[in-house]
Amino acid sequence: EKGGWDSFMDKEIHEDPAAVSNTLLGRYDESGDLDLDEVHIDEEVFRQIDKIIVVACGTASYAGLVAKYAIEHWVRIPVEVELAHEFRYRDPILTPRTLVVAISQSGETMDTLMALRHAREQGSRVLAICNTQGSTIPRESDAVLYTHAGPEVAVASTKAFLAQIVAAYLLGLYLAQVKGTMYRDEIHQTIDSLKAMPAKIQKVLDGQAEVISQTAERMSKARSFLFLGRHVGYPVALEGALKLKEIAYIFTEGFAAGELKHGPIALVEPGEPVVVIVPSARGRNVLHDKVISAIEEVKARGAFTIVVAEEGDPDADRYADVVFWRPPCPTLLSPLVDVVPLQLFALDMARLKGLDVDKPRNLAKSVTVE
Ligand code: M6R
Repeated sequence: EKGGWDSFMDKEIHEDPAAVSNTLLGRYDESGDLDLDEVHIDEEVFRQIDKIIVVACGTASYAGLVAKYAIEHWVRIPVEVELAHEFRYRDPILTPRTLVVAISQSGETMDTLMALRHAREQGSRVLAICNTQGSTIPRESDAVLYTHAGPEVAVASTKAFLAQIVAAYLLGLYLAQVKGTMYRDEIHQTIDSLKAMPAKIQKVLDGQAEVISQTAERMSKARSFLFLGRHVGYPVALEGALKLKEIAYIFTEGFAAGELKHGPIALVEPGEPVVVIVPSARGRNVLHDKVISAIEEVKARGAFTIVVAEEGDPDADRYADVVFWRPPCPTLLSPLVDVVPLQLFALDMARLKGLDVDKPRNLAKSVTVE
């Protein structure tokens, strides 16, 4: 079943491009307009939505965090992202105009299920973004938008993360379409950019594997890693940290790069590996320069910097010890390429330690207890 791959995780990372293209398939018409009839929620109901709350756990919650940046930008309504287990036990403000989006690969995560039940009891609509047909979470939701990543077997979620981002983006673009918050052209262009992503992801898989495994070998004795990112790079940093933690058993922490000076920089000592997700330098992106200066800050304290950057970024080349390159793409879509080298890196680190990458200790593929 592994189709020639050493592990399911390896196979599933290599299915990242297909997860994106299959999740896009059939969700727009010839003109490029979004078509989400399958969701069976009236357009008028969508038009009335004035707030989104994403509830999810682990990797799925990081997909939600990525989507927050895009949906708030496109639709101009607030998007809160909350860990399902925290959401359930406070007193969240829910109204019939709140759309709760439950993201889950398995569709069986008890924490997420309890959160969605609570939201429905309070009179909010719940839309599930789920990878498993007929599982409990979509069955108990008002509507479902399936991610078509195909079955994910490895405990560490990889291709499902990309598919979740794509599905949440489709939802955001659809809301923008019905609410009229984006020009049609802009929506069409974004769909075109999404359609171009699988080839870019493939380029990372093909072109960066070697430098990634060499870097893993160099880092095989490292006891901890810090991950930094800003804007959509922040959830990517959290996800990169989670991957390495759960399958290679290395202490990792993901931070928003702006937080560095508010505490985490105290952890940086000579040789400490720091992974940084660098935004595109195009369009005089101020965030790019801020992230580059974060690299300089940690380097000045002796950190070993591993950077994910856009091809041709001269600053990344100048300041990083190692660069994992990714093709250019619009900023909001960059998590779809930026996370890929981090998935491969975690896999290589775990392999070098001789670990069972598909079944890390103490973890289950779906967590069906609260
Ligand atoms: O099946 P779900 O998407 O609801 O699972 C949520 C988390 O348990 C899951 O993403 C977990 O964090 C993974 N082990 C991450 O790789």
